[in-house]
Amino acid sequence: MIHLKNVSYSFGRNWALKNISFDLEKGDFLFITGPSGAGKTTLLKLLHADLFPKGGEIKVAGYDLKKLPTRKHYLLKREVSIVLQDFKILTKLTVFENVALPLVVQKKPTLQIQKRVRAVLRSIGLYNKASVRCDELSGGEQQRVAIARAMVVNPKILLADEPTGNLDKTLSLHLLSVFNQFNLHGTTIVMATHNEELVSRQDRAKILYLQEGNIEAKNF
Ligand SMILES: Nc1ncnc2c1ncn2[C@@H]1O[C@H](COP(=O)(O)OP(=O)(O)O)[C@@H](O)[C@H]1O
Ligand SMILES: [Mg+2]
Repeated sequence: MIHLKNVSYSFGRNWALKNISFDLEKGDFLFITGPSGAGKTTLLKLLHADLFPKGGEIKVAGYDLKKLPTRKHYLLKREVSIVLQDFKILTKLTVFENVALPLVVQKKPTLQIQKRVRAVLRSIGLYNKASVRCDELSGGEQQRVAIARAMVVNPKILLADEPTGNLDKTLSLHLLSVFNQFNLHGTTIVMATHNEELVSRQDRAKILYLQEGNIEAKNF
Protein backbone atom coordinates (compact mmCIF):
# COMPACT_ATOMS: atom_id res chain seq x y z
CA MET A 1 0.00 0.00 0.00
CA ILE A 2 2.93 2.34 0.83
CA HIS A 3 6.54 1.81 -0.21
CA LEU A 4 9.37 4.22 0.49
CA LYS A 5 12.98 3.56 -0.33
CA ASN A 6 15.75 6.03 0.54
CA VAL A 7 13.38 8.98 0.35
CA SER A 8 14.88 12.37 1.11
CA TYR A 9 13.45 15.86 1.14
CA SER A 10 15.01 19.26 1.71
CA PHE A 11 13.74 22.78 2.11
CA GLY A 12 16.69 24.58 0.54
CA ARG A 13 19.72 23.34 2.46
CA ASN A 14 17.72 22.00 5.36
CA TRP A 15 17.22 18.24 4.99
CA ALA A 16 13.80 17.61 6.54
CA LEU A 17 13.94 13.86 5.72
CA LYS A 18 16.99 11.72 5.05
CA ASN A 19 16.97 8.25 3.50
CA ILE A 20 13.60 7.13 4.79
CA SER A 21 12.61 3.55 3.92
CA PHE A 22 9.61 1.55 5.08
CA ASP A 23 6.67 -0.44 3.75
CA LEU A 24 3.06 -0.62 4.89
CA GLU A 25 0.41 -3.18 3.96
CA LYS A 26 -3.28 -2.60 3.45
CA GLY A 27 -4.99 -2.22 6.82
CA ASP A 28 -1.89 -1.14 8.73
CA PHE A 29 -2.08 1.53 11.42
CA LEU A 30 1.10 3.61 11.61
CA PHE A 31 2.00 6.26 14.17
CA ILE A 32 4.71 8.72 13.17
CA THR A 33 6.15 10.21 16.34
CA GLY A 34 9.10 12.38 17.23
CA PRO A 35 9.79 15.92 18.42
CA SER A 36 8.71 19.07 16.67
CA GLY A 37 10.75 19.60 13.50
CA ALA A 38 11.49 15.87 13.11
CA GLY A 39 9.88 15.68 9.66
CA LYS A 40 6.44 14.19 10.46
CA THR A 41 4.38 16.70 8.47
CA THR A 42 6.84 16.61 5.57
CA LEU A 43 6.50 12.82 5.41
CA LEU A 44 2.69 13.00 5.31
CA LYS A 45 2.82 15.63 2.54
CA LEU A 46 5.15 13.43 0.49
CA LEU A 47 2.68 10.53 0.78
CA HIS A 48 -0.09 12.79 -0.56
CA ALA A 49 2.06 14.18 -3.41
CA ASP A 50 1.83 17.68 -1.94
CA LEU A 51 5.65 17.67 -1.88
CA PHE A 52 8.01 15.70 -4.12
CA PRO A 53 11.06 13.81 -2.89
CA LYS A 54 14.53 14.99 -3.84
CA GLY A 55 15.62 11.37 -4.05
CA GLY A 56 14.43 7.81 -3.60
CA GLU A 57 11.38 5.75 -4.51
CA ILE A 58 7.87 6.40 -3.29
CA LYS A 59 4.81 4.35 -4.15
CA VAL A 60 1.39 4.96 -2.64
CA ALA A 61 -1.87 3.10 -3.32
CA GLY A 62 -0.39 1.52 -6.43
CA TYR A 63 0.96 4.78 -7.90
CA ASP A 64 4.64 5.47 -8.43
CA LEU A 65 4.71 9.13 -7.40
CA LYS A 66 7.85 9.83 -9.41
CA LYS A 67 6.09 8.76 -12.59
CA LEU A 68 2.59 10.06 -11.92
CA PRO A 69 2.09 13.25 -13.96
CA THR A 70 0.47 16.22 -12.24
CA ARG A 71 -2.66 15.92 -14.37
CA LYS A 72 -3.19 12.45 -12.86
CA HIS A 73 -2.76 13.46 -9.23
CA TYR A 74 -6.50 13.46 -8.76
CA LEU A 75 -6.36 9.66 -9.15
CA LEU A 76 -4.04 9.39 -6.15
CA LYS A 77 -6.08 11.91 -4.17
CA ARG A 78 -9.22 9.84 -4.65
CA GLU A 79 -7.54 7.01 -2.79
CA VAL A 80 -5.56 8.98 -0.22
CA SER A 81 -7.14 11.58 2.09
CA ILE A 82 -5.15 13.95 4.26
CA VAL A 83 -6.15 16.02 7.30
CA LEU A 84 -3.52 18.66 8.01
CA GLN A 85 -3.25 20.69 11.21
CA ASP A 86 -4.68 23.77 9.54
CA PHE A 87 -7.68 21.76 8.31
CA LYS A 88 -9.67 24.06 6.11
CA ILE A 89 -13.37 23.59 6.63
CA LEU A 90 -15.82 26.12 5.27
CA THR A 91 -17.14 27.78 8.42
CA LYS A 92 -20.18 29.37 6.76
CA LEU A 93 -21.47 25.98 5.63
CA THR A 94 -23.15 23.36 7.79
CA VAL A 95 -21.50 20.19 8.98
CA PHE A 96 -23.46 18.19 6.41
CA GLU A 97 -22.50 20.54 3.56
CA ASN A 98 -18.81 20.42 4.47
CA VAL A 99 -18.68 16.65 4.67
CA ALA A 100 -20.72 16.23 1.46
CA LEU A 101 -18.42 18.49 -0.55
CA PRO A 102 -15.97 15.87 -1.91
CA LEU A 103 -18.90 13.73 -3.11
CA VAL A 104 -20.65 16.72 -4.67
CA VAL A 105 -17.42 17.50 -6.52
CA GLN A 106 -17.37 13.89 -7.76
CA LYS A 107 -20.99 14.38 -8.94
CA LYS A 108 -22.33 11.43 -6.96
CA PRO A 109 -26.12 10.99 -6.88
CA THR A 110 -27.85 12.98 -4.13
CA LEU A 111 -29.32 9.97 -2.36
CA GLN A 112 -25.97 8.25 -2.24
CA ILE A 113 -24.39 11.43 -0.86
CA GLN A 114 -26.98 11.69 1.90
CA LYS A 115 -26.56 8.08 2.88
CA ARG A 116 -22.79 8.18 2.96
CA VAL A 117 -22.56 11.54 4.79
CA ARG A 118 -25.00 10.37 7.45
CA ALA A 119 -23.07 7.15 7.97
CA VAL A 120 -19.76 8.99 8.41
CA LEU A 121 -21.28 11.60 10.73
CA ARG A 122 -22.78 8.82 12.81
CA SER A 123 -19.47 7.01 13.14
CA ILE A 124 -17.63 10.17 14.16
CA GLY A 125 -20.29 11.32 16.64
CA LEU A 126 -21.52 14.40 14.75
CA TYR A 127 -24.85 13.09 13.49
CA ASN A 128 -26.93 15.41 15.65
CA LYS A 129 -24.89 18.43 14.47
CA ALA A 130 -25.44 17.80 10.75
CA SER A 131 -27.39 21.02 10.18
CA VAL A 132 -25.27 23.24 12.46
CA ARG A 133 -23.07 25.86 10.82
CA CYS A 134 -19.40 25.08 11.38
CA ASP A 135 -18.63 28.48 12.91
CA GLU A 136 -20.86 27.45 15.82
CA LEU A 137 -18.74 24.40 16.60
CA SER A 138 -15.83 24.01 19.02
CA GLY A 139 -12.32 23.54 17.66
CA GLY A 140 -12.44 19.84 18.41
CA GLU A 141 -15.76 19.45 16.60
CA GLN A 142 -14.44 21.34 13.59
CA GLN A 143 -11.50 18.98 13.51
CA ARG A 144 -13.86 16.03 13.48
CA VAL A 145 -15.72 17.62 10.55
CA ALA A 146 -12.41 17.74 8.68
CA ILE A 147 -11.83 14.07 9.45
CA ALA A 148 -15.37 13.15 8.38
CA ARG A 149 -14.81 15.03 5.12
CA ALA A 150 -11.58 13.08 4.57
CA MET A 151 -13.32 9.76 5.24
CA VAL A 152 -16.51 10.35 3.27
CA VAL A 153 -14.84 9.27 0.01
CA ASN A 154 -13.92 5.95 1.60
CA PRO A 155 -10.18 6.35 0.99
CA LYS A 156 -7.73 3.47 0.95
CA ILE A 157 -5.37 5.55 3.07
CA LEU A 158 -6.06 8.26 5.67
CA LEU A 159 -3.16 10.58 6.56
CA ALA A 160 -3.74 12.65 9.71
CA ASP A 161 -1.38 15.28 11.11
CA GLU A 162 -1.63 15.57 14.91
CA PRO A 163 -5.41 15.12 14.82
CA THR A 164 -5.67 15.09 18.61
CA GLY A 165 -3.66 18.31 18.98
CA ASN A 166 -6.73 20.35 20.00
CA LEU A 167 -8.55 17.64 21.91
CA ASP A 168 -8.69 16.74 25.60
CA LYS A 169 -7.99 13.22 26.75
CA THR A 170 -11.56 11.90 26.44
CA LEU A 171 -11.98 13.26 22.92
CA SER A 172 -8.53 12.03 21.91
CA LEU A 173 -9.46 8.51 22.95
CA HIS A 174 -12.77 8.82 21.14
CA LEU A 175 -11.00 9.92 17.99
CA LEU A 176 -8.61 7.00 18.28
CA SER A 177 -11.54 4.61 18.51
CA VAL A 178 -13.08 6.22 15.41
CA PHE A 179 -9.79 5.73 13.56
CA ASN A 180 -9.75 2.14 14.74
CA GLN A 181 -13.22 1.57 13.29
CA PHE A 182 -12.12 2.94 9.92
CA ASN A 183 -8.96 0.85 10.18
CA LEU A 184 -10.89 -2.34 10.95
CA HIS A 185 -12.92 -1.68 7.81
CA GLY A 186 -9.68 -1.78 5.84
CA THR A 187 -8.47 1.84 5.67
CA THR A 188 -4.73 2.15 6.14
CA ILE A 189 -4.08 4.88 8.72
CA VAL A 190 -0.97 7.01 9.05
CA MET A 191 -1.15 9.39 11.98
CA ALA A 192 1.52 11.85 13.11
CA THR A 193 1.31 12.52 16.83
CA HIS A 194 3.15 13.78 19.89
CA ASN A 195 0.72 11.93 22.13
CA GLU A 196 2.73 9.09 23.64
CA GLU A 197 -0.16 7.82 25.66
CA LEU A 198 -2.24 7.21 22.53
CA VAL A 199 0.68 5.45 20.90
CA SER A 200 1.23 3.17 23.87
CA ARG A 201 -2.46 2.23 24.03
CA GLN A 202 -2.49 0.89 20.52
CA ASP A 203 -0.84 -2.54 20.70
CA ARG A 204 -1.24 -3.48 17.09
CA ALA A 205 0.04 -0.19 15.65
CA LYS A 206 3.31 0.20 13.82
CA ILE A 207 5.47 3.03 15.11
CA LEU A 208 8.02 5.14 13.29
CA TYR A 209 10.08 7.44 15.48
CA LEU A 210 11.65 10.34 13.60
CA GLN A 211 14.36 12.65 14.82
CA GLU A 212 15.93 15.40 12.72
CA GLY A 213 14.74 13.73 9.54
CA ASN A 214 16.09 10.27 10.37
CA ILE A 215 14.31 7.12 11.45
CA GLU A 216 15.59 6.77 15.02
CA ALA A 217 13.53 3.66 15.73
CA LYS A 218 10.69 1.58 14.36
CA ASN A 219 8.87 -1.46 15.63
CA PHE A 220 8.25 -3.21 12.31
N1 LIG B 1 7.79 25.37 4.45
C1 LIG B 1 8.99 25.15 4.99
N2 LIG B 1 10.06 25.88 4.63
C2 LIG B 1 11.28 25.66 5.17
N3 LIG B 1 11.55 24.70 6.09
C3 LIG B 1 10.51 23.95 6.49
C4 LIG B 1 9.18 24.13 5.97
N4 LIG B 1 8.36 23.21 6.56
C5 LIG B 1 9.13 22.51 7.40
N5 LIG B 1 10.42 22.93 7.36
C6 LIG B 1 11.55 22.37 8.13
O1 LIG B 1 11.61 20.97 7.88
C7 LIG B 1 11.89 20.25 9.05
C8 LIG B 1 10.76 19.24 9.32
O2 LIG B 1 9.55 19.95 9.56
P1 LIG B 1 8.15 19.23 9.77
O3 LIG B 1 8.01 18.17 8.74
O4 LIG B 1 7.12 20.29 9.83
O5 LIG B 1 8.36 18.53 11.19
P2 LIG B 1 7.28 18.06 12.28
O6 LIG B 1 5.97 17.92 11.59
O7 LIG B 1 7.83 16.76 12.80
O8 LIG B 1 7.25 19.10 13.35
C9 LIG B 1 12.07 21.28 10.15
O9 LIG B 1 13.44 21.55 10.27
C10 LIG B 1 11.33 22.48 9.62
O10 LIG B 1 11.87 23.66 10.12
MG1 LIG C 1 4.17 18.76 12.03
